[in-house]
Amino acid sequence: MSVKFAVLGHGVVGSGVVELFYKNKKSIEKHAGNEMDIKYILDLRDFPDSPYKDKFTKNFDDILNDDEVVSVAECLGGVEPAYTYVKACLEKGKSVSTSNKELVAEKGDILLKTAKENNCNFFFEASVGGAIPIIRPLHRCLAANDITKVAGILNGTTNFILTKMYNDNMPFDEALKLAQQLGYAEKDPTADIEGHDACRKICIISSLVFGKHVYPKSVFTKGIKDIQLCDVEASDVLGYSIKLIASVVKLENGKILPSVMPTLVSYDSVMAGVNDVFNAVLVYGDGIDQAMFYGRGAGKLPTASAVLGDVIEAVKHRVTVFSQSWEPAADDSFIEKIENF
Ligand code: HSE
Repeated sequence: MSVKFAVLGHGVVGSGVVELFYKNKKSIEKHAGNEMDIKYILDLRDFPDSPYKDKFTKNFDDILNDDEVVSVAECLGGVEPAYTYVKACLEKGKSVSTSNKELVAEKGDILLKTAKENNCNFFFEASVGGAIPIIRPLHRCLAANDITKVAGILNGTTNFILTKMYNDNMPFDEALKLAQQLGYAEKDPTADIEGHDACRKICIISSLVFGKHVYPKSVFTKGIKDIQLCDVEASDVLGYSIKLIASVVKLENGKILPSVMPTLVSYDSVMAGVNDVFNAVLVYGDGIDQAMFYGRGAGKLPTASAVLGDVIEAVKHRVTVFSQSWEPAADDSFIEKIENF
């Protein structure tokens, strides 16, 4: 019998999940070890003309109350109603895979606990780095290391904008428009250009690596909205490129220092070669020295690929709960703050 899952949201990512699932259904089923199908697609807007019309619903309760649905891919974005829906699914024992970094950065501790209590999984590989596998490697493959630093380019939109400014002398606004047309930017692109999107992603990484929930409000965040072509020209003359770097460092005083800021990187460095919508993450650990992860950080199918990877994992291991979790943080005294920049 085929295992049923539901997709919440049919925007850029949700429609990508549906498209990629039906394109690669046979091989996805092989990896999951089960026949699979999408039973519902939740879309609160007018339904699009789609070959999967019969699956669309506006009523979340159709999904919640259907015991046949064992897994849910949440692609709505934003904290509400996503949080209410995801928590309700987990409480019913339905595993959830999400691409929603705002949700994980704000509510990850609660949702991981809810999943554990209800013998199901809350997966969020797609919430950081788009197509790049970084969550699972940090939590499993690299778990034997004392991780001392994670640093990377975690926002595709701003990396795309900066690349256009450097390579094509394109003004900021024009490059942003292009990123929006290509489906890289958030619904409200201020989250990209003011650094909040990269901040949410470094919060998720920090919480996962250091075991305590790191909230976005505790992280020094500066975006690239004030960078102009004259800054690009001046840094270019000096042999540097400006990149929006999100990082977290383990300090000797036992605290951690997460931050997001535009950073000069030498043209000789590996980060300077990360262009367009690509993201890269460098992980430093006592066993590995360093490892780099690189790939498309945004876009419909790259993000859908990560969501579906988690759905496959959820279907394959329906009875295994991955106890990846972090503690809620009573306060943020374990975080070193940057006061000025
Ligand atoms: N707006 C995000 C980015 C989408 O540009 O990286 C992927 O998280």
